[in-house]
Amino acid sequence: MEKLVAPSILAADFGNLQRDVEMVNNSKADWFHIDIMDGVFVPNISFGMPVLKAISKHANKTIDVHLMIVDPDRYINTFAELGADILTVHYEACTHLHRTIQAIKAAGMKAGVALNPHTPIAVLEDIIEDLDLVCIMSVNPGFGGQSFIENTYKKVSQLKHLIEFTSSKCKIEIDGGVSDQNANKLIEAGADVLVAGSFVFKSDNPTETISNLKDIIN
Ligand code: DX5
Ligand code: ZN
Repeated sequence: MEKLVAPSILAADFGNLQRDVEMVNNSKADWFHIDIMDGVFVPNISFGMPVLKAISKHANKTIDVHLMIVDPDRYINTFAELGADILTVHYEACTHLHRTIQAIKAAGMKAGVALNPHTPIAVLEDIIEDLDLVCIMSVNPGFGGQSFIENTYKKVSQLKHLIEFTSSKCKIEIDGGVSDQNANKLIEAGADVLVAGSFVFKSDNPTETISNLKDIIN
């Protein structure tokens, strides 16, 4: 199956947001990755609903929303209304994860779960068949531009095995510190979607960087 690239808008130029959204529209990118941070679950605040609304207005590709917030149940319907196609919540932020996942699907979105670097894959054993996406964090969530944690490869293989062992059709997404230095090894381990923030937006030619990354992994 085709491997996907999801540029993370966190690294875009917010003074030129429409320009950067159009750049992604006209590139070989597959998804928009949108990081919502609340300053409580993670030690940083990114942006919220009005900014997502502005992005949605111009974006013409799948909108993959990564919620780094406590008690995400409060906003599930709002994110559906704002145009999220995939809604990912953190395992560490959900006491009743099964209920949250069902609510995301009931709102018409695909459901994802993100795992912090210290959270083992095994916690997903009893929910994997309900998931459309698992996002393995390859940095501690909260900031763009951090270095990739090498232990991620092992987790990707473990998750790949777990998925193969069940009837799950869930995709494996990697988020944090992704670049052309680790992309191939991540795909070999079983990744399906690579999120890339700084690597794309801080490069001289983001369109070309996306295109090269797509070529490397396909
Ligand atoms: C980190 C976010 C990431 C971030 C990735 O908390 O979830 O999506 O934007 O940025 P880079 O690719 O720069 O590590
Ligand atoms: Zn993210």
